[in-house]
Amino acid sequence: MWTVGQACAALGCCALLLLFFIMVLQLLKQRHPKGFPPGPTGLPLVGNILALASEPHVYMKKQSKIHGQIFSLDLGGISAVVLNGYDVVKECLVHQSDVFADRPSLPLFEKMTKMGGLLNAKYGRCWTEHRRLATSSFRTFGYGQKSFDDKISEECMFFLDAIDTYKGKPFDPKHLITNAVSNVSNLILFGERFRYDDTDFQHMIEIFSENVELATSAWVFLYNSFPMIGILPFGKHKQLFRNADEVYNFLLSIIKRFSENRTPHFPRHYIDVYLDEMEQNKSDPGASFSTENLIFSVGELIIAGTETTTNVLRWAVLFMALYPNIQGQVQKEIDLVVEPNRQPSLEEKSRMPYLEAVLHEILRFCNVVPLGIFHATSKETVVRGYSIPKDTTVITNLYSVHYDEKYWHDPDIFYPERFLNSSGQFVKKEAFIPFSLGRRHCLGEQLARMEMFLFFSALLQRFHLHFPHGAVPNLKPKLGMTLQPYPYPICAERRQSGQSRAHC
Ligand code: HEM
Repeated sequence: MWTVGQACAALGCCALLLLFFIMVLQLLKQRHPKGFPPGPTGLPLVGNILALASEPHVYMKKQSKIHGQIFSLDLGGISAVVLNGYDVVKECLVHQSDVFADRPSLPLFEKMTKMGGLLNAKYGRCWTEHRRLATSSFRTFGYGQKSFDDKISEECMFFLDAIDTYKGKPFDPKHLITNAVSNVSNLILFGERFRYDDTDFQHMIEIFSENVELATSAWVFLYNSFPMIGILPFGKHKQLFRNADEVYNFLLSIIKRFSENRTPHFPRHYIDVYLDEMEQNKSDPGASFSTENLIFSVGELIIAGTETTTNVLRWAVLFMALYPNIQGQVQKEIDLVVEPNRQPSLEEKSRMPYLEAVLHEILRFCNVVPLGIFHATSKETVVRGYSIPKDTTVITNLYSVHYDEKYWHDPDIFYPERFLNSSGQFVKKEAFIPFSLGRRHCLGEQLARMEMFLFFSALLQRFHLHFPHGAVPNLKPKLGMTLQPYPYPICAERRQSGQSRAHC
């Protein structure tokens, strides 16, 4: 028989052995394959995770100066390749588009969407079917319809009227912009807009965007490396999972509501199209259409569309108040092109090169999705002489592309004129890729461009934007998968129609 002391000692030995075994396993995982790109030395077990705690995109750009445009990072046993600068991003995403079109099977994504849905789906049948269905629905119920511009303009009207209720007093524009932007996607997904006082929908968006922030927390990186920390009762990953469950249940209930009274083969919106497709493919065991994937794809479309476009517009408002001269010049252009008492329309876009240049510079300078969405290799490949095995996580540093000195003069300076030629016409720039490139490039680019133009031009047509007296805005971005401004107050004072026309 063992004494209590002996039993404790034996248990202690077992625990030590287990810990030793886990450490050896982890160190083995941390070994790089032969021919893999070099990278900064990491710590045992956690690798380079701690270096990513603040401004990972900036850290990665700096590391590329030491290790080259393609280098590796150790995300706690997950070997990742980082692509920096336009040339190598294009080489991989465009010249080897098939190879770089996968998403990594990280424990977080496995738990959240089982690698199904659309945005996080593995590069295979599920992704192809969902991407095709979403693209065609966006066309059918969105920009393919002649009346869709009018529907966005109608949403603009609700948005401007809601701003008007503040009567020039300071307010944080975040919630109104979020509501207005998400309503444009809602028209396609549900065939309806949600009222700005629909607190349930707003709460859903809030906790969903909290997850976009939490997804890059150190806890979540640790969870990806050591999924067993999921059993701990605390940690930011726990909050993320709680939020995800709540969002899932909410989406399930609204999908049920919006599919009521549906007539098969007469779809009114994305949900109806999806349910038709599910029924048609019932007997095909390989088909990916399911209630679960419907919920995942709807959630992804809502958040991918809302979090990004909203943050671009929030940066745009902040920069206009920061640079009143630029604001004045945009307003002058609007007043010259658009008749007073009528909202700007998409046909007028080509006659507003300066406004286009300002929006493009905001997208370049602010980098709302600085690291894109993680990619993975679908097969083994070679890039610039380095071997990259199948299933390697690939990070596209879009921030480094937009600050690539080879393509941008003084990239740290906010300078909309870089998008204009000497006669003031708008010019496209090759290294401008806020929507990424290749097979997985943003599905909502066309919609986002419409929304940004219509909301931004309507806002500046009606209001003069300025900070409340004495307010100093914080230009540092709040970190997450997206870069957003910290909340700030703004005053929106009604302009007289054609105000700058009177001055010119
Ligand atoms: C200014 C606004 C937007 C920006 C800057 C933006 C940017 C991006 C970026 C960088 C990616 C990653 C592409 C990659 O993996 O390489 C992406 C993917 C995606 N975006 Fe957007 N996006 C915007 C608006 C939208 C909108 C309005 C929607 C839809 C309503 C949308 C839907 C998607 C989807 C579904 C994907 C995943 C595509 C796939 O995996 O096949 N985005 N977006």
